[in-house]
Amino acid sequence: MNEMQILIIDYGSQYTLVIGRTLRELGIRSIILPPKKVDKYLEKNTPKAVILSGSNWSVHNDGAPNLPELLDITGEKYFILGICYGMQLLAYKMGGVVERPLGHREYGPAEVTLDTTEILFKNVSTKTEVWASHGDTVISLPKDFISIGSSSGITAMKNKNNTVFGIQFHPEVVDTKEGKKIFQNFLALSRCEKDWNPEDLVKQIQKEVLEIVDKKENKANVILGVSGGVDSTTLASILAPVLGERLICVGIDTGGFRQDEILELKKNTESAGVKNLVIVDAEDEFIKNIGTTIDGEEKRGKFRDVYKTIFEEQIAKHNSGFIVQGTLATDIIESGKAGESAMIKTHHNVGLAWEVEDLHPFRNLFKYEIRELARTMNLPKAVYERNPFPGPGLYLRVVGTPVSKEKIALVREADKTVNDILLKYNLMKDISQLIVGLLGINSVGVKGDERVYGHSLIIRAVQTADFMTAKGYYFSEEVVNEITNALTKHKDIVRVFFDMTPKPPATTEFE
Ligand code: XMP
Repeated sequence: MNEMQILIIDYGSQYTLVIGRTLRELGIRSIILPPKKVDKYLEKNTPKAVILSGSNWSVHNDGAPNLPELLDITGEKYFILGICYGMQLLAYKMGGVVERPLGHREYGPAEVTLDTTEILFKNVSTKTEVWASHGDTVISLPKDFISIGSSSGITAMKNKNNTVFGIQFHPEVVDTKEGKKIFQNFLALSRCEKDWNPEDLVKQIQKEVLEIVDKKENKANVILGVSGGVDSTTLASILAPVLGERLICVGIDTGGFRQDEILELKKNTESAGVKNLVIVDAEDEFIKNIGTTIDGEEKRGKFRDVYKTIFEEQIAKHNSGFIVQGTLATDIIESGKAGESAMIKTHHNVGLAWEVEDLHPFRNLFKYEIRELARTMNLPKAVYERNPFPGPGLYLRVVGTPVSKEKIALVREADKTVNDILLKYNLMKDISQLIVGLLGINSVGVKGDERVYGHSLIIRAVQTADFMTAKGYYFSEEVVNEITNALTKHKDIVRVFFDMTPKPPATTEFE
């Protein structure tokens, strides 16, 4: 059997890695490659099925990514599923017509009608809610294809042999309520056998990292950046047993942590079984370097520079040959480093050019999978249930006004206040991430009959499965009032805003 049963061709959609994740949830591993790497892969491998991802290209654009030369789209060698652009490309190349009807652009939730007598839609409801994100539409099918679903146009197609399929919407996005069933049907049709489980993955990561680090002479040390969060703590717990004293965990106190996080970092790294932990106090360097900029990307860039310099010093100091990081698929996608996807934000630890080799063993994994690995590694509940937090931390939560130690201290205090209220109401279990920010909007208020001119805070809570899409969380009136009252007790806080914007169009963080 080939190592990977499914090949996913990445045409640059934000959701390509989510296809891989969904298949993994169904117990199936897959390999994701950009179109230009597919021919080489197909020279040596024959997958059971090939999935073509979506894209922000139109098949009619100059330079639009094409079908790989060696890809057989007849459905005779392997099963084929085209999603969004993948469907349009298949239809277009086989003689169908793809157009952008005037004013037509489906974006977000949509209802489609599916032919549920079709094997691809077995056990799916005839009318079902899906996630759409497209401008182009297939308006005429290639020869020997039939339509098996509709919305405002043809939403799904198949060839007569039941071996080539196309779906206009995104079954991989959680907002497509029955997307998983569609994948399940496709996997069953392709006769894929389960080949993924967390214990195997732990062993695989240990093996992969050991193979690389053992090649180096003199058994060079390995530096792992830790933040106390679920990703780096889980990675530390996976690597500690195989690297022992060679593993040096470095935590940087950037000044952007929330209340008590450095203490938690120490505790969590200890529970991961790490022997060497170094904490570098670098608050002043970060503040000084970020300076007065209010531009989110510039801030991230400056944060990255200091982050890199400090790690380089640590690499030299500890005779390290490698740097390992707990970077996830989401971070890589959003930094535009995954295959073809567009750049959304520069993540602080992605794509840095190190003098030593950098390893990202979690590069294909999503947050929920890391939580599963953390459970497999018997880490405390406090680790695997922890809310995520961006590397640049509170620096990204002082928005539209230059950062300063005072403003960061104010956000830190406000974050703690809101957190405590949500814990009191037992709401943290329903929220994937809480963001408390300070806005660069000073405004007039009245306190104790006196005019005050002070800061505004913004509160945002989101619910999400994978951080690729997210919904704003609506607090009850009681909770809103309690948060507002508690925060405006501070003499410098005049106003509190609440933000429920979904992702997209907003991102989780403000910058
Ligand atoms: P966005 O704001 O892009 O965030 O929707 C998705 C998730 O990623 C976290 N995030 C980061 N994590 N370094 C990180 O380690 C970063 O630079 C970074 N930026 C965003 C964010 O908090 C959310 O959980």
